[in-house]
Amino acid sequence: SRIIKLAVIPGDGIGPEVVAEAVKVLGAVTARDEVTIETSTFQLGAARFLETGDVLTDADLASIQQHDAILLGAVGGVPGDPRLKDANIERGLLLGLRFALDHYVNLRPCTIYPGVTSPLAAPGVVDFVVVREGTEGPYVGNGGAIRRGTQQEVANEVSVNTAYGVERVVRYAFEVAQGRERKHLTLVHKTNVLVFAGSLWQRIVNEVAAEYPQVAVDYLHVDAATIFFVTNPTRFDVIVTDNLFGDILTDLAAAISGGIGLAASGNINPTGRFPSMFEPVHGSAPDIAGQQLADPTAAILSVALLLDHLGLTDAAARVNEAVAHDLARRTISVRRSTAGVGDAIVTLLTDKVLK
Ligand code: NAD
Ligand code: IPM
Ligand code: MN
Repeated sequence: SRIIKLAVIPGDGIGPEVVAEAVKVLGAVTARDEVTIETSTFQLGAARFLETGDVLTDADLASIQQHDAILLGAVGGVPGDPRLKDANIERGLLLGLRFALDHYVNLRPCTIYPGVTSPLAAPGVVDFVVVREGTEGPYVGNGGAIRRGTQQEVANEVSVNTAYGVERVVRYAFEVAQGRERKHLTLVHKTNVLVFAGSLWQRIVNEVAAEYPQVAVDYLHVDAATIFFVTNPTRFDVIVTDNLFGDILTDLAAAISGGIGLAASGNINPTGRFPSMFEPVHGSAPDIAGQQLADPTAAILSVALLLDHLGLTDAAARVNEAVAHDLARRTISVRRSTAGVGDAIVTLLTDKVLK
């Protein structure tokens, strides 16, 4: 039987709470399959930093790389904790992993599941996917400040866009679009202002488009895209965009789909050279941490993305189906704990209903 080595990084805040449910679901859905999931847990995040001063050591990274995939909860300590002032765990750990493992595709689907209440009055059938670039843009940390702390301080944050980096994520997005029913791709950028990066993105999209004649391509400035996310989200099928625009748009996408607790993501290295990492879009939610209030659905749907990535498409479909089932009846159910939601989904997976 196939053995899958999974690195689990529960992280901070609600991370451990939602990851516990995701791991439960993973166990339940693969119980009948010819696969064995071997998990190793990595204590990384604010607690580890406070204990040891480490964010992500070379040894951690080397060990994580020995795995087939990574499941991550969320990272980020309690805001305002003075002991974390210089830690920057988000950058050191989360971006550290995305960069080191070359997760150049950050895949973030947005679906309004039947029965789920969207804050939009009449959203229609919303089902799109954001292909967010994951290793470049303003996230690279190519910046600096001079005359710090003075009235003359200058702070620069350079957005790095390479032809190589843009082309590979654009190609991936075209492949995704080609495989979907509507075969529609929207480039989202800000070409009217960010002229250098904008023209690179637009040129590469135009060039690659010639190889995908079946894919219809259009363009939106990012500000206008936020309008259509709210007024006409059904217009989207596949979106390809820069790292920072993609970050912002996918929190908005989560909100329109019924809440940040439902939004899953995959940080993918499509070459398979490095393990890909799956995580909810949300953060550590210090405001609700430790109270079993977090919705684990985003983490559980991230497990579905993980299974898909590993080629376990049947198991992935079963998780999606169980989640859809659970969401459809949610309005009539009472408020459940984090574990309550996980247990309900496990029950659906093991129940005859979905067999
Ligand atoms: P957040 O996503 O943690 O929280 C935003 C709001 O959404 C909060 O009100 C929170 O309670 C709510 N929320 C989030 N997840 C939820 C869930 N599963 N169920 C129900 N409600 C949920 O964003 P933030 O407050 O901007 O960031 C908190 C910390 O998390 C920061 O340190 C930030 O840097 C970090 N962060 C980490 C990740 C990650 O690890 N991938 C992502 C985003 C933010
Ligand atoms: C996300 C988060 C991260 C990002 C932060 C915590 C570095 O907001 O995964 O969406 O900006 O990518
Ligand atoms: Mn984000």
